[in-house]
Amino acid sequence: MPNRFGEVFPPPAFDPERYARRRRQAFKQLGDDVMILYNPPEAHRTHDLYYRYRPDSDVYYLTGFEEPDAVIVLVGGAAPRLAMFVRPRDPERETWDGARAGVEGAKALYGADEAFPIDALDTRIGGYLEAAQTLYFKFGRDERLNQRVIAAFRAAAHRRHRQGPAPSIIRDTLPLLGRLRLVKDADEIERMRRAADIAAEAHLWAMQRAAPGQYEFQIEAELEYVFRKRGALGSSYTSIVGGGANATVLHYNANNSLLRDGELLLIDAGAEYGYYASDITRTFPLGKRFTPAQREIYELVLAAQKAAIAAVQPGARFDEYHQVALETLIEGLRDLKLLTGSLDEIKEKKTYLRFYMHRAGHWLGSDVHDACAYFTSETENGSFLYEKLRPGCVVTVEPGLYFAPSLKGMPKRYAGIGVRIEDDVLVTRAGNEILTAAAPKEVEEIEAIRHAALSDGVCAR
Ligand code: GLY
Ligand code: MN
Ligand code: MN
Repeated sequence: MPNRFGEVFPPPAFDPERYARRRRQAFKQLGDDVMILYNPPEAHRTHDLYYRYRPDSDVYYLTGFEEPDAVIVLVGGAAPRLAMFVRPRDPERETWDGARAGVEGAKALYGADEAFPIDALDTRIGGYLEAAQTLYFKFGRDERLNQRVIAAFRAAAHRRHRQGPAPSIIRDTLPLLGRLRLVKDADEIERMRRAADIAAEAHLWAMQRAAPGQYEFQIEAELEYVFRKRGALGSSYTSIVGGGANATVLHYNANNSLLRDGELLLIDAGAEYGYYASDITRTFPLGKRFTPAQREIYELVLAAQKAAIAAVQPGARFDEYHQVALETLIEGLRDLKLLTGSLDEIKEKKTYLRFYMHRAGHWLGSDVHDACAYFTSETENGSFLYEKLRPGCVVTVEPGLYFAPSLKGMPKRYAGIGVRIEDDVLVTRAGNEILTAAAPKEVEEIEAIRHAALSDGVCAR
């Protein structure tokens, strides 16, 4: 059957060498210490039903292991090794829930040097801590596991205090793993390209189908239809589909209002492919054209977004493109008489926060807000310096302006306008590449699409 959408991407092939390579990098950083990571148990939804499972990004990055309820231990030292604690094979449960790798599979398929049933964790975990000074552990939402790890750490420390130095430090895994995950390898970039490609097409599809008289959730359905049709796991976060003033609510996702002519529609939606995210926002008129007031705001946000993208360069600090976006927005708001004072005064007093209250972007990867620190430990004039952008980093660039109807002292013509434009940008050696460029954002392109959609009855299909 021909597919009406772009290429269908099958699930990525499992390549154990990819994960072994990443573990070698992690072991180099780990030295003689130990790291414990885990795939949490399944999340309960209602009564006896669970959400579809999504593994922890760090566990997946280092092992490719997707099953719930697993603990992995990276044991550093001269001969580093991977230990895995997994759900054992269970024919009865597998009839209901699907195949498990089991203890044997963890070794044969996932490269574990040793593997045990998850129930053996408490008796064995202490042994891994004996030789380490530092335990790397990400305290998570699984309180029971947090307590078990602390208990094992204390027991190991107690035993060793009598014989010599004991493990005395628990460190968060984020600085070590976040830094590794910050620079994407070829496989990760390919997955992110696919996630971006799918989401860009979904935004175009939605732009061709939205019409006054529909509900926001109908547009959410159009987006998610394309995501799944092309092989994405689904949305990388709950899609935001906000018509009119709903676009001024930053985390709006009720998506249950009626779309009205003359208003804008803001869609912030991304696809997840092979556990890698895209994150796109587009804003367009529900009629055929922007009103003059909408267009003024849209063009200002677009100018800020383009200027900020140009500042995404290897070697630049993470905050540089944010400053470019902010300054462009402030200058534009002054021209529109929405802010008064000099650029420096406005920045100092932060009066722009009325209309622009978030950062211009974030790291993007396996987590939508990818788990890497934004600051380094370097300081300048007493402040910590931001991380540098390096080839292989991916950031979002997403300035916006929001005129909530409740805002006082603002011309009526802007009331209820919310605009954000968001692309995913890969840092390259030569500069950058916009992974989501296929989603239209120029005023003329958008108006042509809206004109065709409303004239040809595409929306009704
Ligand atoms: N959609 C989440 C974000 O843009 O950060
Ligand atoms: Mn977004
Ligand atoms: Mn984002």
